[in-house]
Amino acid sequence: MTRLNRLDRMILRLTTQRDLLRWAVSLAAGLPGPVLEFGLGKGRTYDFLRDLCGDREIFAFDREIHCPADCLPGADHLFLGEFGDGLPAAVARLGPVAALAHFDVGSEDRAADARLVAWLGPAATALLRPGALVVTDRAMTVDGWQRLDPPEAGDGDHHVYRVAMFDYRTAT
Ligand SMILES: C[S@@+](CC[C@H](N)C(=O)[O-])C[C@H]1O[C@@H](n2cnc3c(N)ncnc32)[C@H](O)[C@@H]1O
Repeated sequence: MTRLNRLDRMILRLTTQRDLLRWAVSLAAGLPGPVLEFGLGKGRTYDFLRDLCGDREIFAFDREIHCPADCLPGADHLFLGEFGDGLPAAVARLGPVAALAHFDVGSEDRAADARLVAWLGPAATALLRPGALVVTDRAMTVDGWQRLDPPEAGDGDHHVYRVAMFDYRTAT
């Protein structure tokens, strides 16, 4: 396979992210509930989701603030701290209501990313309603999540999942 230089890789990554967010938001159109943004970062995808999602609330998670002021959610929509702390706080406050979650958590350290998503995906399930959409930049294996085939091939790192419609946590 042809090696992509770093600029082209980044362009492919961001294009895939934008395309899949757009697609997943369209799939979630009939579902009520807020959007969750794991990895506020510089606020680029948060800003994009704001444009896409209209009136939907968006809750963002990050350990630090390094976005421009115009992309900073209000304090009541920001879980500032480690995901491991923000996520249980969000579960206690919101419960399983979200229609869509976006995980933008990948780094250059693939092994660390794999360790992170191994617990983050299953833990985030407690915030997602049945049928919710998940867009992630690292593959996640979570009981009850079905991987969807996106319309375009993309970068190979981004995936879209749909949470099962039934509540598999209580199914026997
Ligand atoms: C790739 S950046 C997100 C980029 C952002 N979505 C954007 O479009 O500008 C990843 C973010 O995840 C945050 N992050 C990574 N691991 C984290 C963790 N365990 N707890 C909290 N935040 C974390 C980092 O601080 C960083 O801001």
